[in-house]
Amino acid sequence: MGQFVTAFAPATVANVSCGFDILGFAIDRLGDKVTVSFNQDGILRVTGIEGDGGKLPLEPEKNTCSVAIQAMLNKLGSKQGIDIFLEKGLPLGSGMGSSAASAAAALEAANVLLGNPFTKEELVPFAMESERIACGSAHADNVAPSILGGFVLIRDYDPLDIVKLPVPEGIFCTLVHPHIELKTSDSRSVLRKQISLKESVMQSGNIAGFIAALYKSDLALLSRSLKDVIAEPSRALLIPGFYELRDAIKSIGSLGSGISGSGPTIFVLSPNGDIAHEAGEKAKEVFQKIGLGVDVYVSEVNKRGAFIVSRGENRETIRQ
Ligand code: HSE
Repeated sequence: MGQFVTAFAPATVANVSCGFDILGFAIDRLGDKVTVSFNQDGILRVTGIEGDGGKLPLEPEKNTCSVAIQAMLNKLGSKQGIDIFLEKGLPLGSGMGSSAASAAAALEAANVLLGNPFTKEELVPFAMESERIACGSAHADNVAPSILGGFVLIRDYDPLDIVKLPVPEGIFCTLVHPHIELKTSDSRSVLRKQISLKESVMQSGNIAGFIAALYKSDLALLSRSLKDVIAEPSRALLIPGFYELRDAIKSIGSLGSGISGSGPTIFVLSPNGDIAHEAGEKAKEVFQKIGLGVDVYVSEVNKRGAFIVSRGENRETIRQ
């Protein structure tokens, strides 16, 4: 018997076209769950993973949950032993912030187990360590919205400066996940190392426009700002159906589409749920035509982020 805590953390859309590595938002319901409990052996142990098809590592130095919790314990100077059980709700290599959701849920649960030594904002750097292990880059545009919810801007990485942004009423997201797997490390390797002055000006204008649109609830401005001249031109080539879907949703009143994180998932933003569902139907037609399986999720922007699902004393409830 012993105390356990279970937390859920949501899927996220990183970059949101105009904010490469600096902007992301959280999705409702889709996500990962992590249960943690103390052990008396003074070690971090991943006792099991469900829903990953056996693909994720159990070794504590390779698993995103344990790497994140280890970073937290290091900050505390603690040698507390913790058992970790991960329930994957998100597909791997999908561009929906799968590794980030595992780390965010692990940190949310461990923070409560340890008596809340950290604020939610303070958990973000620990989760970034697990992104470094998972995909070779310690970006925060998935982990920050997964922990904090809503739209989040990473104004700077050194030192980390995170800004929670407003969420316009009624805005919906359609996630279109084609059945192919893309590793973030691979999608990062196709990126150009340099961009021109002209491209930099365009990207700055669009990210500034997007943020102004969130504050003004100006969806026409938001739509005009959904452009990416940095990552999309190289990455779209790795995603079958990307441009076909963009064309297919032009006339239905959606706000625009882009690559979710490093792909292959495509996000569509819409001013209401009806248009978001219509975008989903269009996506199914597009992918049927090119003969590729696809999952479609429609969601509001999740303003809550990671949260505690359950906690108690009955350690038996943690599967090992
Ligand atoms: N900003 C990161 C990238 C997100 O685009 O590589 C990865 O999900």
